[in-house]
Amino acid sequence: MADGSWYDADIERVIISEQQIRDKIAELAKQVSADHADAADGVLLVCVLKGAVMFMADFARELGRLGPASEMEFMAVSSYGQGTTSSGVVRILKDLDRDIAGRRVIVVEDIVDSGLTLSWLLKYLESRGAASIEVVALFRKPDAIKVPVEVRYVGFDIPSEFVVGYGLDFAERYREMPYVGVLKPEVYARS
Ligand code: XMP
Ligand code: MG
Repeated sequence: MADGSWYDADIERVIISEQQIRDKIAELAKQVSADHADAADGVLLVCVLKGAVMFMADFARELGRLGPASEMEFMAVSSYGQGTTSSGVVRILKDLDRDIAGRRVIVVEDIVDSGLTLSWLLKYLESRGAASIEVVALFRKPDAIKVPVEVRYVGFDIPSEFVVGYGLDFAERYREMPYVGVLKPEVYARS
């Protein structure tokens, strides 16, 4: 890092670099492509806004090169508000735009922390009649898990610290960072 962007000064430590993210996404796309090569209707990628937006864009492009074809849907749910700890209460802020019955769904998630949001979401997608539902998550905090949830494709297991960047925010900021890091304590003190 330290390329002089405004956010670099707020970062205590880089957890995953831009290059690591790029390499991992290529790897994940390769796995998903191989596992779904036989999907005649392609796969339906369901992005969980807002945190997964960068991952969705980069992952979908990589998968696109390899196939199968994909379609994109976006959902927004809330379980966190402005703070940094899970409330366990999930609310749909934006629902799917169309029917997913009979489709091979791949949920594109930024990060699995307690697992509460994802386990709720999987039940919801099941109730909408998807043919299959799998999860690709770029990050996972294994020490923070509270409910067991199957994540078929995981990018990185990271420590249970609050991280920002590559879609992940603190109070809606830092999403545009191309890497993932931990904020300096004074940043929290400021807000
Ligand atoms: P749970 O606990 O339900 O949380 O698995 C999933 C959602 O919480 C957000 N989350 C984070 N956001 N930095 C963030 O900016 C983090 O370290 C972090 N951990 C969890 C995220 O939206 C995720 O989908
Ligand atoms: Mg957030």
